[in-house]
Amino acid sequence: MFPQTRLRRLRSHPVLRDLVRETSLSVCDFILPMFVRPGKNIKNEIASMPGNYQLSIDRLVDEVGAAEKLGIRAFIFFGIPATKDAQGSSAWHDEGIVQQALRTLRPVFKDVLLITDECFCEYTDHGHCGILHDHRGTLDVDNDATLPNLARQCLSHVQAGADMVAPSGMMDGMVAAIRKRLDESGHNNIPILSYAAKYASGFYGPFRDAAESPPQFGDRNSYQMDPANSDEALREVALDLDEGADIVMVKPALSYLDIIRRVKDRFGVPVAAYNVSGEFAMVKAAAARGWIDERRVALEILASIKRAGADMILTYHALDAARWLK
Ligand code: PBG
Repeated sequence: MFPQTRLRRLRSHPVLRDLVRETSLSVCDFILPMFVRPGKNIKNEIASMPGNYQLSIDRLVDEVGAAEKLGIRAFIFFGIPATKDAQGSSAWHDEGIVQQALRTLRPVFKDVLLITDECFCEYTDHGHCGILHDHRGTLDVDNDATLPNLARQCLSHVQAGADMVAPSGMMDGMVAAIRKRLDESGHNNIPILSYAAKYASGFYGPFRDAAESPPQFGDRNSYQMDPANSDEALREVALDLDEGADIVMVKPALSYLDIIRRVKDRFGVPVAAYNVSGEFAMVKAAAARGWIDERRVALEILASIKRAGADMILTYHALDAARWLK
């Protein structure tokens, strides 16, 4: 069928290799996750995520500025609140940590996209992603009771200046509840990036240290997906698109490249992938021991996520990659 039996011909010249390259990485592909906490002049490096910090708002402003200088234009914020309770009510307070951060950042950074993670695990004293109720003798997240709180959190973030909301709690109906609340409040132009296929993954370990959000008992298996499932991810994505999601996310990225590809092929919508904390930590740890070449491996990983079908990547490598790609 193809007359070329000599595939190496097109690899023989660097310019030719550039010309036939199928996937390209750019700083425009990246969304940088950031952790904001109360206080002043705080920049605490997260031990398992070198180069990433818990930041007070004043230092966050500096860091967003530095990232913007490197060409990063999209940020997603996670809040570490001053107080936690059973509902996670500080998530929707007007003076909540993320709300304050947004109000400070918004007038300073007019050209960047401010995205907010929408979940309760950082805000609840039990560390689960919503309100708990008793389900046949065990405590479990109450799906429908959590939805109005989630909608309230989103609205509050949007009112404080968020450009896009990203619900990550894996509640059924979360996109519809948020869409309705935002539309009713005059925000029908604010897109929803849904963590549509989010797996119950061991790769979130470092993040839970960073966000101080590990579940205090049990696990997240009753709301996050079983890593063994693939068709189910398509049903999750279909449901979220049906409810009005503008972008769907697959998370984590690396062990789920097949899912990214299936979602892209099946739905042809904008797909985000979250190159999560544990994936980042493995690269950093191996690189620190001199076992791998960090730059080469990180860029290979990021390219593989795009090649799999992701249009955008949430990644802690964003700042380094921005420098490398310059
Ligand atoms: C939940 C949330 C988590 C991450 C992003 N949002 C953690 C979890 O589900 O426990 C993990 C991100 C990462 O590991 O980098 N709000």
